[in-house]
Amino acid sequence: MSLVGDEDGGSGLGAPHPHADATGGVLTDIDHVGIAVYDLDAAVGWYRDMFGATVAHRERIESDGVEEALIKVADSYIQLLTPVTDTSPLAKFMERNGEGLHHVGYRVDDCAEVLESVKGAGARVVDEHPRTGSRGTTVAFLHPKTSFATLIELVQE
Ligand code: CO
Repeated sequence: MSLVGDEDGGSGLGAPHPHADATGGVLTDIDHVGIAVYDLDAAVGWYRDMFGATVAHRERIESDGVEEALIKVADSYIQLLTPVTDTSPLAKFMERNGEGLHHVGYRVDDCAEVLESVKGAGARVVDEHPRTGSRGTTVAFLHPKTSFATLIELVQE
């Protein structure tokens, strides 16, 4: 297969993205790294004890069945996440994988535009349309199946 093309399909790499440049293209920053934990208070305490890091924002997101604690690192966050229902997708994830890295949130200027663009380029998505995330952000998840086993969240502040 070609190193740069997707003539054989599947790689997701094709013509240069209209916004492609030497940076992250439409990805303007790492918004957050999501880490699944069983005990949110214990995880918050660990980051405090180890690094002196404190919680910038804490929120229960009923629609996702999770509670999060955001720890600010420069312009990004560590998002400690714990399920609050047995049926939430995060609970199911943790049944299979336990604690640990869960997803990466990439900041974008226009979530809807980027979502349509990646769908058009063949990425499988979890959210067909942008929805409201924590802190009043607009978010959409891409399915790990077509993104190198990485759950990706597009985040528009
Ligand atoms: Co997230």
